[in-house]
Amino acid sequence: PSAVIVAIDGPSGTGKSSTSKAVAAKLGLRYLDTGAQYRAITWWMITNGIDTDDPHAIAVAAGKPGIVSGTDPAAPTITVDGLDASGPIRTQEVTSKVSAVSAVPEVRTLITELQRSIAASAEGGIVVEGRDIGTTVLPDADLKIFLTASPEARAARRSGELRGKEATDLAATKEALIKRDAADSGRKTSPLAKAGDAVEVDTTELTLDQVIECVVTLVEEKR
Ligand code: C5P
Repeated sequence: PSAVIVAIDGPSGTGKSSTSKAVAAKLGLRYLDTGAQYRAITWWMITNGIDTDDPHAIAVAAGKPGIVSGTDPAAPTITVDGLDASGPIRTQEVTSKVSAVSAVPEVRTLITELQRSIAASAEGGIVVEGRDIGTTVLPDADLKIFLTASPEARAARRSGELRGKEATDLAATKEALIKRDAADSGRKTSPLAKAGDAVEVDTTELTLDQVIECVVTLVEEKR
C-alpha cells in the first residue's frame, strides 16, 4: 500500500484523538496531534510569564520554545525544550488559554511549518488531527475527514475524560467547550472549518469502534 496522508478535523469532544490514534495504529501509519503542539506553546507562554491576552507579546515569543512531537500512535510524545510536556498541556489552565494563543498568526505560521515537515518526512503515511489540517496545513491530503457531534455528546465525552483528573461538572464543561469552539471557529487565521472536499462523519449516535471502522474503510478505499 502507498503512503497516505489523512487529515482529521473537527471541534473538541468529537473523538478526534481516539479515532486518529486507533486508525493510525491499525493501518501502520504515523500519528500527529496538532492540538498538543498548540497546547505546548501555550504552556511555555504561561510558564515563562508571557501574558496570553497580549497577541504582540505572544508573537514576539512564538519562536522561542523548541517543540518536538513523537508520532508513534501507540505512544505519542510531546517535548518542549527537551522536557516532557504531555501532562502539563492537559490542565484546565492551558485549555482555557490555548484558543487565544493559537489565534496569533505568528504562532500558526511556525506550527504549520512544523506540521508540514513532520507530515512530509512520515514514511508510510500519517494521520494528522486538528482544526485546520484539511483547509490549510495539508490541502492536498489523500483523505479529509470532518468529525462532528451534538454539543451534549461532546460535553459528556469530555467530562468523562476529565473525571478523576480534575473536578468538573457537565454544565461547566459544556460551556467551556462551546466557548473554545466559538473562538476557534471565529478567529481570522485558519479557523476551525470543514474543507470543501472533506467527508463529514456525525459521531453523536456512533460508538468509538464504529467511528474507527468507518474511517479505516475510507482510508482503505484511498490506498
Ligand atoms: O485538539 P485540542 O483540543 O487538544 O486542541 C487544543 C486547541 O489548539 C484548540 O482549541 C485550538 O485552539 C488549537 N488548535 C488549532 N489548530 C489545530 C489544532 C488545535 O488552532 N490544528
